[in-house]
Amino acid sequence: MKALFAFLALAAAVACATETAANGGIPVYVMLPLTQVDASGLVGKEQLATDLAKLKSGGVTGVMTDIWWGLVESKGQGIYNWSGYMDLAEVVKASGLKLQVVMSFHQCGGNVGDTCNIPLPEYVLNVGKNNAGIYYTDREGFANKEYISLGVDNEALFNGKTPLQLYQAYMQAFANEFSSYLGDTIDGILVGLGPASELRYPSYPSDRWKYCGIGEFQCYDKYMLADLANAATEAGHPEWGYSGPSNAGTYNKYPTQTEFFSNSGFDNYMSDYGKFFLNWYNTKLLDHGKNVLSIANKIFASRNVVIGAKISGIHWWYSDNSHAAEVTAGYYNTNNFDAYATIAKAIKPYVTTFDFTCMEMFDSSSCGSKPVELVSQAVTSVLNNGLEFDGENALELCNPYCSENSFNQVYKQSTQYGKINRFTYLRFTRNLVDNDSNWKIFTNFVNKMANA
Ligand SMILES: *[C@@H]1O[C@H](CO)[C@@H](O)[C@H](O)[C@H]1NC(C)=O
Ligand SMILES: *[C@@H]1O[C@H](CO)[C@@H](O)[C@H](O)[C@H]1NC(C)=O
Repeated sequence: MKALFAFLALAAAVACATETAANGGIPVYVMLPLTQVDASGLVGKEQLATDLAKLKSGGVTGVMTDIWWGLVESKGQGIYNWSGYMDLAEVVKASGLKLQVVMSFHQCGGNVGDTCNIPLPEYVLNVGKNNAGIYYTDREGFANKEYISLGVDNEALFNGKTPLQLYQAYMQAFANEFSSYLGDTIDGILVGLGPASELRYPSYPSDRWKYCGIGEFQCYDKYMLADLANAATEAGHPEWGYSGPSNAGTYNKYPTQTEFFSNSGFDNYMSDYGKFFLNWYNTKLLDHGKNVLSIANKIFASRNVVIGAKISGIHWWYSDNSHAAEVTAGYYNTNNFDAYATIAKAIKPYVTTFDFTCMEMFDSSSCGSKPVELVSQAVTSVLNNGLEFDGENALELCNPYCSENSFNQVYKQSTQYGKINRFTYLRFTRNLVDNDSNWKIFTNFVNKMANA
């Protein structure tokens, strides 16, 4: 009798497991609107509950939301108001879906597809009013208020606190507040590391850049320039330290229109100078990522959640030897370096997953755009380094009608180089759930992923 019960229990457990992703499928999550929570709290609670029930019925595993720094800490340094997000977590829990949260330490607004305006917390902006050096700055001196420059990571400029300490306090407060949800409804934390929450420099801000420009280096705030000067002196070339490359062009140039990114230029990216600069620029970014992620790891590692970092999919000029657009964003993917392997190695001690985009894209014959090769390189490098890979699409696929072709491409890219861990669809819209034909294409995709 005992044995029979044990057998039944085991059978039930097995049956249960086959219903979930444990059988080897790829779970699909859906990103919620950027301002599902705004200054007034959770938006449209009842509609949301209905929509989440529909997502659940379509086989979706969970949803993803930004948790905006500028909303939660708007009342002053160290004064957190999580109430809108708490309401969201409750509604998601009631739906039976999972929730991935993004610790969004950047401004909402200013990136491709952003239809929102949530600046950094006011107390941060107030420090910036007297010291624009806290922001990433380009060669022309434009300071970008989207995210605090890594150049001040260890500067105690905020009421005696450094940005790393601000991030630490915020994540710790979140972990305390949502303790009962962590490892249960909340199954993933993506740690914001830069603009659009990605580990990168803001090299292609939408107000100065248009596709498919190479972007610009962002190393001209006074703290980064001082660091560059030190690094140049240490390298025995103080003359390399006064500034970034003077011949790297402007945001909307193509690689061949600049000396730095062309093969002919003197002091180009392949020169000793170029290699010194690119190595420094990349190392600073990796150090920033490691610093923030190690803080997140200490807070969340014991909470049974997946910890991840978002990496940008910069597919334009990928087929150019210089990889100029990746390089200005901080991804040193030229001179025989594999930027994505380097990032994976750097962050592996602190995270379990590397979250990348462009999964739906096809190669193009213009702008050196090769997203298929880019994704292939990234997935391969990440899996070879023992990290999990999470995928996202770069642009909406159901606007207004779902592109079956693009969903098929996501499936192919999610499986052909080795299986990815999760896919997050960008983004929830009424079109996605209210149009029967869209819903059918989407749920077919979700089912196909579940059986991958
Ligand atoms: C916290 O934010 C909510 C909106 O999300 C608001 O209704 C509430 O008054 C705020 N609480 C405090 C103490 O400011
Ligand atoms: C739903 O989408 C299909 C195309 O996929 C379109 O032909 C149809 O008009 C849409 N229906 C509504 C109600 O918008």
